[in-house]
Amino acid sequence: MVTFAPYDRPIRAAFVGLGRIYDLNMRGYVDNPDVHVVALVDPTQDRRDQRQADWPEAATFPSIAKLAASGIEVDAVECLLPIPLHEDGIVDLLDQGWHVNAQKPLCNDLAAAQRILDAAIANDRVLRVMENFLFYQPLQKLKAVVEAGDIGDVAGYHVKMVGSGSGGWDVPWSSFEWQLKQIQVGRGIMVFDDGWHKLSTALWLFGPVREVRAWIGTTSFGSGIDIDAPAMIGWEHENGVRGVWDITLAPDLYMRSDYYTNDERWEVTGTKGYARVNRIMARGIQQPSVEVYCDGEMRGFHALDDDWGNSFRDSGRHWIRYLHTGEGPLSWSADEAMDVLRFALAAYESSAAGGIGVDPRQLKLARRAGEERL
Ligand SMILES: NC(=O)c1ccc[n+]([C@@H]2O[C@H](COP(=O)([O-])OP(=O)(O)OC[C@H]3O[C@@H](n4cnc5c(N)ncnc54)[C@H](O)[C@@H]3O)[C@@H](O)[C@H]2O)c1
Repeated sequence: MVTFAPYDRPIRAAFVGLGRIYDLNMRGYVDNPDVHVVALVDPTQDRRDQRQADWPEAATFPSIAKLAASGIEVDAVECLLPIPLHEDGIVDLLDQGWHVNAQKPLCNDLAAAQRILDAAIANDRVLRVMENFLFYQPLQKLKAVVEAGDIGDVAGYHVKMVGSGSGGWDVPWSSFEWQLKQIQVGRGIMVFDDGWHKLSTALWLFGPVREVRAWIGTTSFGSGIDIDAPAMIGWEHENGVRGVWDITLAPDLYMRSDYYTNDERWEVTGTKGYARVNRIMARGIQQPSVEVYCDGEMRGFHALDDDWGNSFRDSGRHWIRYLHTGEGPLSWSADEAMDVLRFALAAYESSAAGGIGVDPRQLKLARRAGEERL
């Protein structure tokens, strides 16, 4: 139990990790009277100089240890570290006595996740694993349409993801370097990193999952760049609804995007219609972002905020507001992140065993033999 007392003043926040995704995460802090950004941490001088322009009054540090030793008072940290540093990094931040808004994926295995959750409890601090997709307006509309019964009872659903190699914003090579480390320990960029969002969304829409079946392939581009696709993952929720997610690579496909270039859609089929989100990060299908078909008529929702970057703004504001007021529930808690991790690990276990059904609730906590740490 965390005995969290809301703050009756603006939150004093630090950013730890000032790389690519900082550009979107900072949106929740801009023009937000509930927060003061007091510190910026990154070992790279260029990044510190670049981000200092956003927060001229913030102090900058090359490490968490130097921030901790500075005497600057911090309440909460926006943790934007590379995935291989999540386990030790998040524990370190919690041990400093700071609340943590961590980036997904939480970490690579259940033992690491339990260590992080234990650190939050031991330090009596709030740990959140942010999931900006839950704040993306078209997905929120999809959920509302489905829950309102507009398409009848849910018969099943499909998530589609096409990894395209052309268009979008620049991603520095340094970001790929730690992704290569993740690939080496079997936690690929499509299924585990980006896929975290898809699995979260599935749990958010239809609740706990009781069985996962997966067939995860590899496409090699040389020099250790082994992308975890094509892949097909299917599952059944405790309520009986089945979902399926296919991941395909189209390396020469150009996508117009302000961000990453995945072509993605979510489609829920009901007993009398369907509802579909046409795009998320990239500007793939140029129809309204949500379309709902029923009784021979198609409804299009043209006025939704379909800028994926704004889902980070709203996710960040939700976190700060929670610390400031205590108004919950917090979307999402660390326990829910644990469920997402179990879901992903069940897919790996299924695929390794030839696609058999795996119950994510039955996975063991221990690190696998021979793997001290993934
Ligand atoms: N929510 C999303 O949709 C989304 C999208 C992209 C990335 N992410 C996640 O965000 C995290 C960061 O990804 P990124 O693309 O910004 O990576 P990045 O490599 O661009 O940035 C990471 C930054 O952390 C810094 N860093 C490294 N070690 C550090 C340390 N010990 N202390 C402080 N800073 C340190 C690096 O110098 C770099 O500037 C990852 O967990 C990734 O999965 C989430």
